[in-house]
Amino acid sequence: MQGTKVVRPFPFFRAGARASQPQLSKPILTLEDVYKFFRPDQPTLRGVNLSVERGEFAFITGPSGAGKSTLLKLIYRELTVDEGRVLFCGRDIGRLTDKSIPFLRRNLGIVFQDFRIIDHWTVYENVAVALEILSMPQRLVRSRVAEALERVGLAGRGVERTSNLSGGEKQRVAVARAIVPEPALILADEPTGNLDPHLAIDILTLFEEINSTGTTVLFATHDHSLISKRDHRLISIDEGRVIEAQKGLKQWPGSGIHTLVG
Ligand SMILES: Nc1ncnc2c1ncn2[C@@H]1O[C@H](COP(=O)(O)OP(=O)(O)O)[C@@H](O)[C@H]1O
Ligand SMILES: [Mg+2]
Repeated sequence: MQGTKVVRPFPFFRAGARASQPQLSKPILTLEDVYKFFRPDQPTLRGVNLSVERGEFAFITGPSGAGKSTLLKLIYRELTVDEGRVLFCGRDIGRLTDKSIPFLRRNLGIVFQDFRIIDHWTVYENVAVALEILSMPQRLVRSRVAEALERVGLAGRGVERTSNLSGGEKQRVAVARAIVPEPALILADEPTGNLDPHLAIDILTLFEEINSTGTTVLFATHDHSLISKRDHRLISIDEGRVIEAQKGLKQWPGSGIHTLVG
């Protein structure tokens, strides 16, 4: 469209609605024989192979220090692999230049344990920032933010300062900020770690609702009680390797379970 400002989709990934038909039929994420070393003698991840299809919901688990955050950081390119490849929409993200990393992240929504929202901003400002950095026109920002706030149960709360919100509400703001650019993949790193058990379930349910509209979700948690309430695919990191069950704990092989999921 000539004359109007076009918000460009990422030129390489096209991960969301704009993905082409051949892309849509491929896994959204593939890890091929991935190694990550923080110490030369002891890899944190050793030979991890993983394939995630579009639209999946998967837990990533393992005790504290197992490498859950490391795995996610390799996907959003906070870290790079030492060996192997991470393919997002078929592209090797380990080979992206620093300049291309923001384009990758436009296709990812990331939610952290500590919310990472700006306390002296309003709810609206905290969510809108994710679109403003894409130079989206204000009119469109307003309607998209309103829609995202509605999806997370905060309709009409945009004017409030986030410092006045409860922990559960703050995490909802963070989820709204993550989903508002309509990313194809959401990465959540212990998103319920700072919340009471009943709020943890609410936030888990929120991610499930987001997943039900087609967004792929990877949800890292060491919280055994949360995982046991659902039968999502379970990806467990154990001594740097990945062990999986397609139906969560319900399908977990044998009695080794407690050592595996802490
Ligand atoms: N930047 C880093 N430098 C050195 N060691 C690190 C770094 N990040 C993580 N590690 C180590 O890697 C291991 C896995 O950490 P992490 O991925 O944070 O685990 P989890 O998220 O499962 O608790 C831990 O032993 C941790 O100390
Ligand atoms: Mg972690």
